[in-house]
Amino acid sequence: MNELGDALDSTTWSEDMLWAVAMSDLAVFLLDGDGKLLHSNDAARVLAMRLHPNEVHPDPAMLLSYVPEQGWQIAVRDGRWIGEAPTTQPGLVLEIKAFAGRDRGRCRRFAVMSDISVRSAREGELRRRHDELQSTYDRLASAQEQLLQSEKMASIGQLAAGVAHEINNPIGYVHSNLGTLQEYVGALLALLDGYNTALQSDEPTVSRPLLRKLRDRLDVDFIVGDLPKLLEESREGIERVTKIVQDLKEFSHVERDEPMRPSDLRKGLESTLNIVWNDLKYKARIDKHYDEVPLVECYLSEINQVFMNLLINAGQAIADRGLITLAMGTEGDEVWVSVGDDGVGIPEEVQARIFDPFYTTKPIGRGTGLGLAIAYRIVAKHHGRIDVSSRPGAGSTFRVVLPIAQPVLSRPRK
Ligand SMILES: Nc1ncnc2c1ncn2[C@@H]1O[C@H](COP(=O)(O)OP(=O)(O)O)[C@@H](O)[C@H]1O
Ligand SMILES: [Mg+2]
Repeated sequence: MNELGDALDSTTWSEDMLWAVAMSDLAVFLLDGDGKLLHSNDAARVLAMRLHPNEVHPDPAMLLSYVPEQGWQIAVRDGRWIGEAPTTQPGLVLEIKAFAGRDRGRCRRFAVMSDISVRSAREGELRRRHDELQSTYDRLASAQEQLLQSEKMASIGQLAAGVAHEINNPIGYVHSNLGTLQEYVGALLALLDGYNTALQSDEPTVSRPLLRKLRDRLDVDFIVGDLPKLLEESREGIERVTKIVQDLKEFSHVERDEPMRPSDLRKGLESTLNIVWNDLKYKARIDKHYDEVPLVECYLSEINQVFMNLLINAGQAIADRGLITLAMGTEGDEVWVSVGDDGVGIPEEVQARIFDPFYTTKPIGRGTGLGLAIAYRIVAKHHGRIDVSSRPGAGSTFRVVLPIAQPVLSRPRK
């Protein structure tokens, strides 16, 4: 201790303290107020040897270069600074604590270093795993989003043929009506011509029998009776096409990044029914029992997808001819919508599995097993629930329950 005492001025560093420093397995450095190294312990020498393995007696003072000037400035200002520093030795990371202060009028500095390679490696590994998990999660979320979107597009594809038929039909009769109208207009113009000629003649009354004959020949009485009907029918045809196009547009609308909106579930169910109508109309009668329901905060196009999946399943459950029952109502602060059929029904042991992705009892090409899994996911995202009651041979009823307003804290951004 004498040797130390000389160097350090034993009046200011107690022997007890120097003994503690010597015993410490942390590398300890005692400095004067200007940053000159006065003393370091054995642990500091060991650390220096690890950092400079090629030198016989590396100077522990070299380690002080790992304390940045700014670190000392902070230590002088706040009393201490703590930092980490990578070293020239691969994988060796130092934790450094630097202290500065005054004691009995004298400025002192003091630094402690320890090897935190293990901790740092563990933290690095943890961070890497966390990043990996995060990116897997992100990929999964986007794959799920894509799956949802592609299932939607696939079902649209499936329906496209039906929809094309639905559109073709009214377009067909509007087209044929236009042909008839063209004939009628020709006849009426011919009659008008006859009237004009009569008007311009000096003796209009003479033309009367002629005009009467013309009228009979052109079948004007029939035309006058038929015309309003033709026009009305054509207008209905065009309106039907417009409606189908509108429903399709609404159905395929992607609400990404938009907030949920208060939406009319009845309108959603009706327009979805309109889209799948071609698949159902030869099989099922539709019974509707709608109560008045309030607007429901949701992504309507996604809820429409749920309705569509349920309607398609109901149709597929009916072998020949049957009844699909649609109903909706309010219960407390929730709205429920049910889609029921009198089809094959679902055996009890199967009921537990129908919401699993890829579970299907249908032949390849007809079933993907995704319809109900997607419906389940969409409804869960809306903080609602979906359940089924079914009796084999008697039919099934699916019930979707949605909160009218989304819980405030969890209003999700997609
Ligand atoms: N309305 C229903 N009636 C009878 N079985 C149904 C009904 N809806 C769903 N299922 C059963 O649940 C399974 C999964 O349905 P879903 O997820 O829509 O997939 P997919 O219709 O492609 O098979 C169906 O294969 C069928 O066995
Ligand atoms: Mg299905």
